Amino acid sequence: MIFSPLSATGNYDKDVTSFLEVASSYIEKERDVFHFMATLSNLSAFIYSYFPDLNWAGFYLFDGEKLVLGSFQGEPACIEIKLGRGVCGTAAEKKESIIVSDVSHFPGHIACSSKSRSEIVVPIIKDGGSLFGVIDIDSPLLNRFSEYERHLLEDLAILISKSLI
Ligand code: SME
Repeated sequence: MIFSPLSATGNYDKDVTSFLEVASSYIEKERDVFHFMATLSNLSAFIYSYFPDLNWAGFYLFDGEKLVLGSFQGEPACIEIKLGRGVCGTAAEKKESIIVSDVSHFPGHIACSSKSRSEIVVPIIKDGGSLFGVIDIDSPLLNRFSEYERHLLEDLAILISKSLI
């Protein structure tokens, strides 16, 4: 099944604006770790409810050496991912978004859930260019993600980056 909406409403720019307006309402203004965890918790729940046909949505955060599981929605997942490993570690190492239409064809894919069939991973880059983490989203459908989701999620990653302490 091919699923790649050019836009949820048919109005691409309107979709991007409304997605980012709602997402930014979940970004806590308090600059402490507790409110930041609350921000990521609400953003993972928002992503999971906004995009249809997902089975996992969340964050992995970079601790200076590896990715560590952050807030998410979906089945329990692996806690640590080394840079360069799996879709997340590759996107993190390259600091580039990766869309995987069929995870079974991605060398070294890390299957946290057997339900995942396609995936998108978008890096979150701090001001100055250093890695903060990634946004990771899985779908039980093949080829679920397109440039539409990549555009929305990259803009969200910039919003998150700007909210960092
Ligand atoms: N599939 C990811 C691992 C994280 S689970 O999807 C939550 C990867 O290959 O990096």
